[in-house]
Amino acid sequence: MSTQQPQDSDRFKKQFWQDPKLMDDRANLYLGFYAQNLINRANIEEFTTKNKRIDILDLCTGTGLLAFQVYDVVKDLDVHTNIEAIDFSAPLIKFAKEKKEKLRASVLNFQEMDGQELKFENETFDFVFSNAGVCFYPDFVKGFKEIHRVMKQGSNAFINAWAYDFPMAIPIQSAQKHGTMKDTKMTFQTLSEPEKFTELLKESGFSDISTDSISHKIRVKFGEFVETFNGNPSLLDEKVLADTALAFNVKEDNDEIELNTTMIVASLTKN
Ligand SMILES: C[S@@+](CC[C@H](N)C(=O)[O-])C[C@H]1O[C@@H](n2cnc3c(N)ncnc32)[C@H](O)[C@@H]1O
Repeated sequence: MSTQQPQDSDRFKKQFWQDPKLMDDRANLYLGFYAQNLINRANIEEFTTKNKRIDILDLCTGTGLLAFQVYDVVKDLDVHTNIEAIDFSAPLIKFAKEKKEKLRASVLNFQEMDGQELKFENETFDFVFSNAGVCFYPDFVKGFKEIHRVMKQGSNAFINAWAYDFPMAIPIQSAQKHGTMKDTKMTFQTLSEPEKFTELLKESGFSDISTDSISHKIRVKFGEFVETFNGNPSLLDEKVLADTALAFNVKEDNDEIELNTTMIVASLTKN
């Protein structure tokens, strides 16, 4: 755990995302399925039968979950590859770089950067991904305009955002009810509504937009689920923990729970 506790209102700031170990331990469990789903939509193998170079961007990469998954897809293809992965959290990027060194994945490049102010040239990428990332931007239009700017003509982006049943939904609702969480607006859920998501993308310059939702059940031991709350102290309140145990009908940390989760996915083409 980081020594400085993040506050709920920091969700949109770097301070909220400072614990690489917690993020890396949990990323695959909660987000691995959704990262793979975004990659599958891109149909990268087919792209590389017609193109000899491929430039990929993973926005809000965290400790690199999607970036490493997409690296696994392209690493044996006969094509010149560049994968850029950015996040505004320095500790997460440092952690991802260390993982990359161990893998000797030289085509992967991790950089500390704000997704709303990308330091890439116009029309750089063939594919842009972001797995559970853009929903945390304080200014969606600014961030989406940046995605549009760095995409090549005819290229695709696949970005997703939590719908209302995200993994922490039950404890967060309880924390809001008991007042331990002051941030009751949960602005990151703006994109939970596909119509709103689409409207913001249109405002950012996209015209070829389709959205759909995809669901996934996650099985986890209750104790492990609660350990994830360490990144969010307002959920460690006794009343919140009791409400959460009741909602899942569990008594022991070892009891397994099933989390129903859904993401809204936007598939975008730059015309
Ligand atoms: C829920 S995590 C998802 C991480 C990763 N995509 C994955 O699938 O494991 C959200 C990530 O978004 C990053 N993030 C939030 N706002 C950002 C911004 N404005 N610019 C860059 N990264 C941002 C956070 O630092 C965090 O790593």
